[in-house]
Amino acid sequence: MSRIELRNLSLAYESENKRFLALENISLSIESGEFVCVIGSSGCGKSTLLGVLEGLIFPSSGEALIDGVPITGTGPERSVVFQHYSLFPWMNAKQNVAFGIRQVNNASKKEANEIAEDFLIRVGLKDFMDKLPAELSGGMQQRVAIARALAVNPKILLMDEPFGAIDAKTRVQLQELLLSLWGADAERKTVVFVTHDTDEALLLSDRIVFMGPRRIEQEIHVPFERPRRESTFFSKPEYAELRKNLVSLFYRDVAQNIGGEEVLI
Ligand SMILES: Nc1ncnc2c1ncn2[C@@H]1O[C@H](COP(=O)(O)OP(=O)(O)O)[C@@H](O)[C@H]1O
Ligand SMILES: [Mg+2]
Repeated sequence: MSRIELRNLSLAYESENKRFLALENISLSIESGEFVCVIGSSGCGKSTLLGVLEGLIFPSSGEALIDGVPITGTGPERSVVFQHYSLFPWMNAKQNVAFGIRQVNNASKKEANEIAEDFLIRVGLKDFMDKLPAELSGGMQQRVAIARALAVNPKILLMDEPFGAIDAKTRVQLQELLLSLWGADAERKTVVFVTHDTDEALLLSDRIVFMGPRRIEQEIHVPFERPRRESTFFSKPEYAELRKNLVSLFYRDVAQNIGGEEVLI
């Protein structure tokens, strides 16, 4: 079980005497095992929303619940992966993954190392376990971050533009890796994945939550059967139609000059 529910959630950042409303009246239910992508222009509040789910920032009003229980802080049932790899630079790949396992699962060093090795093999880094982050490419560092997030066996995976800084070809490999790891679980993890990229959202998700400034504007069901592969997926006519709708939502925001500095589609 790992159902997420947001009820009439608003969040204002407060600094000095100013209040800045970042989320306004968000209501959203995400089912256990569902893969949801949150998409929207820069500055619309996606990372703020993820911060609430992570338990680092708290709503000004309304509720954020996991399995009916209000979120009061971070928790071992939730793992996060960010755009910036956030690996410890002085630890090698295996130590980075094992560290998380020891923190969360209270495992012995030996157990943690075994689990870390297993997950690094699953993400294709068998021969790179002893490398420091600086000795790995961006894509490989993100594989380590994914291994670290999954190795603690979370029920919920929160990802904030995790492949945003990765080149297009590597990005597809990482998307397919994530889908295969997620699909392989008997009890699938609930995933909330923030992205700027419409193709990424359509490939990965069961549902796309499109955000305008502060608010959810639209929820779009993504009907394609799984498993999905980039090579076969992009030629489907229904795909082109959905993509067109999503892109037009972005352009509407741009035309109205809302949502911030930067829009990538
Ligand atoms: N700690 C903060 N204090 C004040 N304002 C913030 C803070 N973090 C983000 N914001 C503002 O809140 C809005 C939403 O930010 P964010 O959630 O990061 O958007 P996104 O991830 O969609 O780009 C932006 O206008 C941003 O400038
Ligand atoms: Mg963000």
